[in-house]
Amino acid sequence: MCGIVAYVGPRLAYPILIKGLHRLEYRGYDSAGICLLNGELKVWKCKGKVSELEKYIEGEKLEGTIGMAHTRWATHGEPNQINAHPHYSQSKHLSIIHNGIIENYLVLRKELQQRGFTFTSDTDTEVLIHLIEDIQQNENVAVEEAVRIALTQVIGAYAIVVLSQDNPDKIIAARKGSPMVIGIGEDEFFVASDATPIIEYTNNVVFMNDEEIAIIERHQELKMRTVRNQERTPYIQKLEMSLTAIEKGGFPHFMLKEIFEQPRSILDSMRGRLHLDQDTVTLGGIRDYLPKILNAERIIITACGTSWHAGLVGEYIIEDLARIPVEVEYSSEFRYRNPVISEKDVIIAISQSGETADTLAAIELAKSKGATVLGICNVVGSSIARATHAGVYTHAGPEIGVASTKAFTAQVVVLTLMGLLLAEKKGTLPESYLHKLRLELGIIPSKVEKILQRADKIKDIATIYKDSTNALYLGRGYNFPVALEGALKLKEISYIHAEGYPAAEMKHGPIALIDKNMPVVFIAPKRGIYEKVITNIEEVRARKGNIIAIITEGDESVRKLADHCIEIPDTEEMLIPLLATIPLQLLSYYVAVMRGCNVDQPRNLAKSVTVE
Ligand code: F6R
Repeated sequence: MCGIVAYVGPRLAYPILIKGLHRLEYRGYDSAGICLLNGELKVWKCKGKVSELEKYIEGEKLEGTIGMAHTRWATHGEPNQINAHPHYSQSKHLSIIHNGIIENYLVLRKELQQRGFTFTSDTDTEVLIHLIEDIQQNENVAVEEAVRIALTQVIGAYAIVVLSQDNPDKIIAARKGSPMVIGIGEDEFFVASDATPIIEYTNNVVFMNDEEIAIIERHQELKMRTVRNQERTPYIQKLEMSLTAIEKGGFPHFMLKEIFEQPRSILDSMRGRLHLDQDTVTLGGIRDYLPKILNAERIIITACGTSWHAGLVGEYIIEDLARIPVEVEYSSEFRYRNPVISEKDVIIAISQSGETADTLAAIELAKSKGATVLGICNVVGSSIARATHAGVYTHAGPEIGVASTKAFTAQVVVLTLMGLLLAEKKGTLPESYLHKLRLELGIIPSKVEKILQRADKIKDIATIYKDSTNALYLGRGYNFPVALEGALKLKEISYIHAEGYPAAEMKHGPIALIDKNMPVVFIAPKRGIYEKVITNIEEVRARKGNIIAIITEGDESVRKLADHCIEIPDTEEMLIPLLATIPLQLLSYYVAVMRGCNVDQPRNLAKSVTVE
């Protein structure tokens, strides 16, 4: 969702800001704007892409070594030029960009209107900049103090940057509930909603905490205070992220690059954790909490979207291996439904971005009830990683394509490692079986590689089905979450309506949809209740549905029934999701490209959903 980037230092701000906005495009947005401070505050903004903003300001004098820029994902007010950020204060001496939602903006707006402020936009953000100006004028305080006082009056979530014409060397940034990172270079500072616009300039970063205000001034040390006016010492961290990780590296889209990165990202997610030489698993991040997990009455996994699908695979794995009851809940439902939670429960929150608002709220709820809360996150230093008691990073590397791919497989690997570790400690299964699983997990990257080599075959199938209007994805057991994930991938990037179902549920409704125009994707490897899946395939065939089947290499039985088959190598049943998901990602990708869709930034979607 909305993206923020700001700069102060010796260089021209404009090229840094525009490049930063491009790097943040993956978050999803519908308008963009920029503000440069060079004697006076100058704002340019427009509806649409960053490239449209660039065209819009062509020929303008884009000078100044301090500035800020924004991509907006509309919440309050439609996506248009007026509602785009930055917003001026009434006197045009201040300007603001904002991510998040000010919940009490209507009350504040009314009060400000009574005091003579006029509003040009429908946004909640404009309220905040008028409020800051009102405080500055009435109380005659420095801009950072006016920001601080204003923030004591707002309810909601924010990451803001404020520039002041009267303070030409100063950037004020603050956060609560929306992420913000400060990059510290040589005599220069960068501010952004995540590290991607920063890493090409510096690896030294400060992740801001909730209710912190940063006073960033040219030639000065970074200063931080809290909204309650306490001084804070900035904690500078070294970021281990390379520029190549956030560039396309010769691929036409980030999504394809990220699909093809999976042999490597899967390996990275088990590196230093799966010890084949010692026949064991370690997870340093949750070591101190192991007794708690082993004695848990149940585990509740909470997440959204693709991460929720990974959670479903995790439920099957942990119950199978460790015999601890597991429930999987959408964070958005969990947080509002008054769930029964106690100190004996362990909650696992899964999130690629680590910023998903509903998952963060679910974590806070679980913590307030005394539960132990663990995180499985991809983004280092993210809000969820910090809000949880402990956790395990997935180490999949930055995921820029909006559709989650390599993060999913990395999440499943971490959940498998957790299952193996718990089984090892609890002694629930024979060591020989655990040994076999560990070995098999270790060679999964090479099996993924083999599937990727068959991408052209999947492309051919995509050519046949690219004009479909619907699709059904069916699987059983471990392959039910895979079916859900396959359907989600297709609908989100190709806009084809797709549904995932447990194959046996087909008879209870979806079978009515099946005719000669309906593609049905079966995840049908030769493991688990394979024979039952064959029966389901027969049922679809009898109704003339078009069958695309994911099968185990060499399986002739399903091949005879299906219209098209995609082979995956054989593996242990619980590891099949790590393989079967790959062709489904590729199928969605090729279909979307053939339909001319914007694969990396599908319409209406945001990479990190920081509002509920
Ligand atoms: C689907 C997708 C989304 C996310 C969901 C949760 O491809 O990317 O469904 O999985 O928004 O996001 P995180 O994992 O960042 O909490």
